[in-house]
Amino acid sequence: MKALITGVTGQDGYYLSKLLLEKGYEVHGLIRRSSTFNTSRIDSLISQYGEKNKFKLHYSDLLDPASIYALIEKIHPDEIYNLGAQSHVAVSFKNPLFSVQTSVTGSLAILDSIKNIDRNIKYYQASSSEMYGGASKTLLNENTVFEPKSPYAVGKVFAHEITKVYRESYDIFAVNGILFNHESPLRGETFVTRKITRAVGRIHNGIQKKLSLGNLDAFRDWGFAGDYVKGMHLMLQYKDPEDWVLATGETHTVKEFAEKAFSIVGLNFEDYIEIDEKFQRPNEVHHLLGDSSKAKSALGWKLETSFEELVRMMVNSDIELANKEKILIKEGLLEPTWSNPLIK
Ligand code: NAP
Ligand code: GDD
Repeated sequence: MKALITGVTGQDGYYLSKLLLEKGYEVHGLIRRSSTFNTSRIDSLISQYGEKNKFKLHYSDLLDPASIYALIEKIHPDEIYNLGAQSHVAVSFKNPLFSVQTSVTGSLAILDSIKNIDRNIKYYQASSSEMYGGASKTLLNENTVFEPKSPYAVGKVFAHEITKVYRESYDIFAVNGILFNHESPLRGETFVTRKITRAVGRIHNGIQKKLSLGNLDAFRDWGFAGDYVKGMHLMLQYKDPEDWVLATGETHTVKEFAEKAFSIVGLNFEDYIEIDEKFQRPNEVHHLLGDSSKAKSALGWKLETSFEELVRMMVNSDIELANKEKILIKEGLLEPTWSNPLIK
């Protein structure tokens, strides 16, 4: 089996590539050219599978449909997982057009290439619980109406709907995975969970003093990314192309996440957190809680990691990272990155 993954350099790109490579797939990843190396998450997979020609990377961009078409024609994969996106909700208010276009042009470029090259190629679209808008405290499932609250979410709603249109119009095996927040030690450092666990690691090591956050009262349904990529793969092996929710069915506030993370190293979060207006969003998604009973019963998808285990895994990994940073900072080889004003 051959898979093409967009967004291969991201958090999910790593976990999905690893899963498929372990299953014996030949994995092709789409990467963007960057002035600095952007493959740090997947370097271990490149070393392990690159030489055996099982893991290959290709320069392209979701905003370049001609290049996407050429890539799909050349690789001719069995499955395409479209994970690429400007995935930071707050940043999507700052660069709305790029954020929307990446989802819109990317999904359409791939689906139309499948239509014209080979309609047997299966397609996975990375849809998001952000599309629901989170205005009320209800349990969200595949039938809940979308009320997007950010440019990011609007772009994702388009990609979701066009996936259904191509499925119904051209008989393409195209599915939407509506995934609720999923995290890991490889989560981008500007998402709130990782921002918190990085701070816990550094504060514990004496190389950071405070942590500035925005809205502590938002509720999120947080799971482990490693569990969620298994669901993506299962969706493409199911007998029919459908849409699926993956979630834990448990929701916690940002404050609860922080409280738990700091308590793991014996600290009281209230002694370290400052509220900074700049981390508030123009429009907030207040409450997310998902119902993944359909995926559990039909796909046999299982949650293997609890909230407690997830927070502990992230904190432990970030303590180790901060240990290494502390040594480099002492030797003058590293600037303390927590002072970077762009960190969201
Ligand atoms: P992530 O870590 O932010 O990774 C995003 C990936 O997209 C990166 O590889 C990035 O490349 C790539 N990308 C961005 N713009 C691109 C473009 N124009 N052309 C090609 N590639 C581009 O995101 P993630 O957490 O792994 O999430 C994977 C997908 O699932 C995203 O679509 C996200 O919106 C969606 N999703 C995530 C969650 C979650 O909780 N993690 C929940 C629901 C849905 P660079 O490395 O070059 O920036
Ligand atoms: N990033 C960030 N930084 N968020 C903060 C902060 C902060 O300093 N302080 C409070 N928050 C709140 C946000 O306002 C939001 O309510 C919540 O923490 C979670 O924010 P993020 O971790 O940035 O994730 P998200 O829920 O906005 O989006 C993530 O999940 C979506 C699925 O629901 C991303 O991975 C999206 O790509 C994904 O679609």
